[in-house]
Amino acid sequence: MIPLAVPNLNGNEKKYLDNCIDTTFVSSVGEYVTRFEEMIAEATGSVGAVATSAGTTGLHAALSALGVQHNDLVIIPTFTFIASANAVAHCGATPWLMDIAEDTWCMNPKVVREELASKCEKRKDGVYHVATGRRVAAIMPVYTLGNMPNMHEFREIADEYGLPLMVDAACAIGATFEGKSFGSLADLSVLSFNGNKTITCGGGGAVVGCKQELLDRVRHLTTTARVWPDYDFDMVGFNYRMTNLQAAVGVAQMEHLESFIRVKRHAREYYEENLRTLLTKGVSYFPTTEGSSCWFSGIVLPEGTKLQDAKDFCAKLKEDGIEARSFWKPVHLQKPYEDAPCSDIHVAESLWERIITLPCSTGITDEELATVVEKTKEIL
Ligand SMILES: Cc1ncc(COP(=O)(O)O)c(C=O)c1O
Repeated sequence: MIPLAVPNLNGNEKKYLDNCIDTTFVSSVGEYVTRFEEMIAEATGSVGAVATSAGTTGLHAALSALGVQHNDLVIIPTFTFIASANAVAHCGATPWLMDIAEDTWCMNPKVVREELASKCEKRKDGVYHVATGRRVAAIMPVYTLGNMPNMHEFREIADEYGLPLMVDAACAIGATFEGKSFGSLADLSVLSFNGNKTITCGGGGAVVGCKQELLDRVRHLTTTARVWPDYDFDMVGFNYRMTNLQAAVGVAQMEHLESFIRVKRHAREYYEENLRTLLTKGVSYFPTTEGSSCWFSGIVLPEGTKLQDAKDFCAKLKEDGIEARSFWKPVHLQKPYEDAPCSDIHVAESLWERIITLPCSTGITDEELATVVEKTKEIL
């Protein structure tokens, strides 16, 4: 079977895990946590990083650190993994769901600007969504597939409305915007190191940013808001720290970041070059922004394709030993968020059922890519 996206654990992972066991440092204190945080901060151009137990917990802690509260609204794209919305809901807030742009698959800043201008009013104590009476507490784009939207536009909008700008950068390790990594583009950005990500810790996340004070707040929140050295706690915190075991795997993975990203980008280019003949049949590619980390790659089936057709296509590939999958179902179509406010959503709706993710593990070979291309062409 050629898998969709499996971890590549051929480096120092075992050695570092053994070291954790030998030294008994298996919990949330240990040299690997510190090293992992340093490596993530450097790779993302951030002043620091706070490693967390998962991307979702990192998102929750970051939203909390930015002051998102019960009953607030947080602006996010509808086309994302449900964890982005869940983290908002964990704060007691509700996602305000926006459409995406066709050329990035990221939240469309124009839609956000229009929605804010037409549906909100600025008051002394913040921005309020008139129809629901709720305060808008933050804007949170997602770096879909490791693509970058125009972050200058989001920064402008955030500043104009006095809102914090946070990013769900779960899939974006290795991505750059205008030649630089993304650590300083938002107030806080959150990565995931789940098993299907380019770099994995088994499970894990990290919060990065350019303001030390904010990162300190995140660290405090993720460590039960404990005031050392005694059993004093100054707020309701979370136990969201990454363990040394997770970080040991993460450090070994980070030693290969460059080569992993190279393979991800190569897979994207390979599919584009070798599936070109399918363009005449109405098939298209995933969008690639400059500096994209190309987390996942694949194709978009012709307009009008329904989810069942996409699933049938994947089933046929599976018979040939190839794992392919459909992709995120938008949040506004998910049961827990049916009633969440949303913009007009036509781009995400016309797109999501037609997306096919093709194998793109960081260990994939050209032979395997060639097999995927051959079988994909045969079926289509
Ligand atoms: C866009 C996005 N946000 C959030 C998450 C959640 O991360 P985790 O699974 O580490 O909690 C993921 C991945 O799983 C994701 O793809």
